[in-house]
Amino acid sequence: MNQKIKVLDLEFTELICAEDIQRRIAEMALEITARFQNERPIILGVLNGVIRFAADLIANLDFELEIEFVKVASYHGGLHSSTLKPLIGISPEIVSNRPIIILEDIIDTGNTIRYLLDSLSQMQCKSIFISTLVCKPDKFLHDFPIDQIGFSIPDRFVIGYGLDYEGLARNLNSIYQLKS
Ligand code: IMP
Ligand code: MG
Repeated sequence: MNQKIKVLDLEFTELICAEDIQRRIAEMALEITARFQNERPIILGVLNGVIRFAADLIANLDFELEIEFVKVASYHGGLHSSTLKPLIGISPEIVSNRPIIILEDIIDTGNTIRYLLDSLSQMQCKSIFISTLVCKPDKFLHDFPIDQIGFSIPDRFVIGYGLDYEGLARNLNSIYQLKS
């Protein structure tokens, strides 16, 4: 039976267990290694949700790379997307002429990544690769390619493993979905 948890007023059930997350991240790391091991890429993580995925992914990457973070406010910890604003930006000097691997915890509407791609478009990156642990294809509103998806899930609100509800639940090791 699926594990159940309660966060504030909402109940969730386990969707992806911790072992499956780690197994999939190891596969994603192999693919990134094959593609970038001689490229010295910049891993550009989107805070805050990406912290768990970024930490576990880079633990599986054994080649030269750099790590940077951006922060774009969108969900404000609640259940629905809202307007975007930059909180921690990107320095053009750091990304110019470098291969960039954008790391996201989850792509929902895709507005956050679209916004980042627009910000990066003037910065002469060598290449841009988009990797997300989770994707909700039914909610995706854009047409840019997502190069790597850990798990495609139905349009349900999820928490855990970096993903939050009202700032909570990022520390959980599995991913849980809102009970219908
Ligand atoms: P997008 O801009 O709509 O693609 O949403 C991106 C951001 O919203 C993600 O980086 C998450 O921080 C947050 N988000 C989207 N869906 C969920 C969810 O189901 N649970 C928690 N956070 C989410
Ligand atoms: Mg995020």
